[in-house]
Amino acid sequence: MSKYSSPVVTLDGPSGSGKGTISLRIADALSWHYLDSGALYRIVGLIASRTSIPFSDEAGVSKIARSMQVEFIAGQVFLEGEPVEDEIRTEQAGNRASQVATLPLVRSALLEWQRQCAKPPGLVADGRDMGTVVFPNATCKIFLTATADARAQRRFNQLRLKGFDVNIRQLFEEITERDRRDAERKNSPLVPADDAITIDTTKMSIEQVSDSILLHIQNSGLTIPDK
Ligand code: DC
Repeated sequence: MSKYSSPVVTLDGPSGSGKGTISLRIADALSWHYLDSGALYRIVGLIASRTSIPFSDEAGVSKIARSMQVEFIAGQVFLEGEPVEDEIRTEQAGNRASQVATLPLVRSALLEWQRQCAKPPGLVADGRDMGTVVFPNATCKIFLTATADARAQRRFNQLRLKGFDVNIRQLFEEITERDRRDAERKNSPLVPADDAITIDTTKMSIEQVSDSILLHIQNSGLTIPDK
């Protein structure tokens, strides 16, 4: 059992590994809360760029992370009441997020915010360091991977569905560069926790991945409610 006030399931992995879609399905199956930690870094990057605070100004960027008013309502993200979902989902926003995420003061500013999301009946937390740093005592830790080609293709499909004009080659390069930065940074790098279960989703459907995770969750002693 976790030492948080509620049980936590963590899902970490690189971009395009399916974390977002799968985490939402798992949170829905369990009727638990969902934390999209990447959205927090995306919003920090958005505010820094709107206010022209350079990413090299660690104190300035971390001040944003400490003071921003963010709310998640019905799957949409609001910054001080303004809907910013579309603006934070672009690849440019992902790249900015990955850059501000290298700053230790930004990461520590967001730590408590994220931990407070562990509320009853439970939390599914999606990110890069959920199982290693934010919730090291989580009940069940999953690490999702997929080949870079498969991940670029998924991001391409997702962004096209949202109406963005994207080029798959460029997307592939941006994703591999972002993952390299996320995996090689000194603070909270993208690595599986020692006690995480790694699932390669390259050839799996969303249903197969969700079913496999739900089985691991049950094996950790948690109950999946009948729906
Ligand atoms: O999950 P995402 O693609 O929305 O995340 C955007 C960036 O934010 C990602 O490239 C790295 C950073 N991030 C992080 O460093 N730690 C997290 N827990 C979540 C995201």
